[in-house]
Amino acid sequence: MRFQHKSIIVTGAGSGIGRAAATLFAAEGGRVVCADQTEGADATATAILDAGGTAETIRMDAGREEDVQRTVALALERFGGLDIIFANAGISGGMANIFDTDVTLITEVLRVNLIGPYLAIKHAAPEIAKRGQGAIILTASVAGIRSGAGSPAYSASKAGVINLAKTAAQQLSGSGVRVNAICPGLTETGMTKPTFDYAREAGKMDRVGRLNPLRRGAQPEELARVALFLASDDASYVNGQAIAVDGGLSSSHPVTKQEYGRTAV
Ligand SMILES: NC(=O)c1ccc[n+]([C@@H]2O[C@H](COP(=O)([O-])OP(=O)(O)OC[C@H]3O[C@@H](n4cnc5c(N)ncnc54)[C@H](O)[C@@H]3O)[C@@H](O)[C@H]2O)c1
Repeated sequence: MRFQHKSIIVTGAGSGIGRAAATLFAAEGGRVVCADQTEGADATATAILDAGGTAETIRMDAGREEDVQRTVALALERFGGLDIIFANAGISGGMANIFDTDVTLITEVLRVNLIGPYLAIKHAAPEIAKRGQGAIILTASVAGIRSGAGSPAYSASKAGVINLAKTAAQQLSGSGVRVNAICPGLTETGMTKPTFDYAREAGKMDRVGRLNPLRRGAQPEELARVALFLASDDASYVNGQAIAVDGGLSSSHPVTKQEYGRTAV
């Protein structure tokens, strides 16, 4: 029960990694504001309540300042303060290359994926700081570490999130508020459903995630558990970091693979 009586906001709580994290936070005693732009947040909150946990729900746009302020205000009003925010909402924005990406598209991807976490820090951190300690976790991506795991707009947005975590950790010096990011690899969620559905239908699940040493995609809970670790006192000395949770994908340059137990060719 690492989060007993903690007041926690999770954005993107209506699906995937956010839903898994909200559910796990609540299972460990956290009081969770499930924030999402879709009704998925209601379903997450209902499941938490049905399991005997504590949850509120809010329909919001994580890239809109007034909505982020409303979300923080809800946590303060219902739970009497704020301890943790998991700024996780994000969009893929498709796979267009630089030359096919128009300014409207890249602006929207940056608004949700980068300005969203910026707004979360801006409005949540002062409230968390009032507690004397707490945590902010941002969802970046392996796409933010280097090219090749999303569109240029998506990669740029997630690279920005990684730096935002580091910069915010510095700017919150002395506040007791830690800021870290997780960098998921391919994870089975709403965002990647078409990829996983296609692979299953085509009998090609062995190809999903085959570039990482674990040779599989992740389940949302595997990402959520790392977010919970970073949010918990178990990570009390982890600050300003971006943790890749990708089965080892980002640990190597692209080289001819050495197969365990076989001679390299
Ligand atoms: N699935 C992956 O392979 C993968 C890999 C790397 C990073 N990520 C990141 O993980 C995070 C969570 O995504 P997911 O994979 O769980 O996908 P998902 O689509 O299952 O969940 C994302 C949730 O965010 C919500 N959302 C989107 N835009 C929003 C907005 N403007 N305001 C409020 N809510 C909004 C969606 O409604 C959805 O419920 C995202 O930031 C994503 O970029 C995912």
